[in-house]
Amino acid sequence: MPITINNRVIEAPGDPRVSLLDFLREHLHLSGTKKGCNQGACGACTVLADGQRILSCLALAIQYEGCSITTIEGLSGDGALHPLQQAFIEHDGLQCGYCTPGQICSAIGMAAEIRRGVPSAVTADLANTSIELTRDELRERMSGNLCRCGAHNGIIAAIGESFGNQPGLAEAAE
Ligand code: FES
Ligand code: FES
Repeated sequence: MPITINNRVIEAPGDPRVSLLDFLREHLHLSGTKKGCNQGACGACTVLADGQRILSCLALAIQYEGCSITTIEGLSGDGALHPLQQAFIEHDGLQCGYCTPGQICSAIGMAAEIRRGVPSAVTADLANTSIELTRDELRERMSGNLCRCGAHNGIIAAIGESFGNQPGLAEAAE
């Protein structure tokens, strides 16, 4: 069964050992998704699978047959950047840019989790499905995406502006 990647229907690799990350980068030459640690620790390889964020280095491509994968290359449309990509530029949410595709895909998945009322480790009221994207929620929910350049202030400002609009989010990363 094929995999849909950025709205293109593509045959899954014949070799069942190929990770989704390697399938994207090496087979399809979609190099926007980055390989950092290749062991689930840095978040650089985050993509969206049917709208949910996943670490593509820990996923086998064939697991996602029949699914729709969105990478950073699939977020922009008609030549226009996704609003969160634009916000990263405006808030200097990057330096070298290596973590940025993963940060952006992760934040989009995170916002969908908030909308679905999925609690995090810092959500006080587990019965409340109307979760506010506070600075603590944002820090916790994005803690799987590391930035070795230390651009976290700009990253949080960009995500906060796009999905939270909470006063003080820009100061969330000390
Ligand atoms: S490359 Fe996948 S989490 Fe680091
Ligand atoms: S911008 Fe360089 S690792 Fe985040």
